[in-house]
Amino acid sequence: MITLALSKGRIFDEIMPLLASAGIAVLEDPEKSRKLILATNQPDVRVVLVRASDVPTYVQYGGADMGVCGKDTLIEHNAEWGGAARSGLFLPLDLRIARCRVSVAVRSDFDYEHAVRQGARLRVASKYTAIARDFFATKGVHVDMIKLYGSMELAPLTGLADAIVDLVSTGNTLKANHLVEVERIMDISSHLVVNQAALKLKQAPLRRIIDAFAAAIPPAE
Ligand code: PRP
Repeated sequence: MITLALSKGRIFDEIMPLLASAGIAVLEDPEKSRKLILATNQPDVRVVLVRASDVPTYVQYGGADMGVCGKDTLIEHNAEWGGAARSGLFLPLDLRIARCRVSVAVRSDFDYEHAVRQGARLRVASKYTAIARDFFATKGVHVDMIKLYGSMELAPLTGLADAIVDLVSTGNTLKANHLVEVERIMDISSHLVVNQAALKLKQAPLRRIIDAFAAAIPPAE
């Protein structure tokens, strides 16, 4: 049995064509079912639905043989493990799906450039604390990090933080909350993550899927 860990939403939707290229079709719509294990048209392949940030954990511990998650999620997971090598995840492919960016955003009336120039200590709220810490350290800006798990846009609006570090795709969420993007930290896309032990034990079926995905990845822009 091959177990693939996916999260609902954009990653799930955008991985479907790649799965199809490997001859795999998921038999249930996760938006219509409460099931967490979804069968596919291949009796020896199943999908487990987990939170995006749990995908690397499932794969690392062998709860899933492979999974798909954003580069943001991987960086944060590896930071907890003291680096990619220690988490032991094999990353054979950038799938170039679910593309977005990690950015710094502030209230439109907050003078970010001025605060940075003055060497002010910034209060930064984020789910992506490793990415944010690293970015501001490289920039030489002192920050107090506030860890949040969602609705980050609220932080500058309520006075919890001066700035947030969050994913931006269309920019609509920022706009709706009167926030402006002031720095782009990095481009994000989803990667295939594979359990290294599974790759040895189930080499043929996993390789078949990896190769099919590799041939079907959308072209770089
Ligand atoms: C992300 C991010 C923003 C939003 C940005 O949240 O945290 O809230 O998408 O997208 P936009 O620029 O197209 O408006 P997501 O929907 O991934 O869920 P989350 O709140 O669980 O992170």
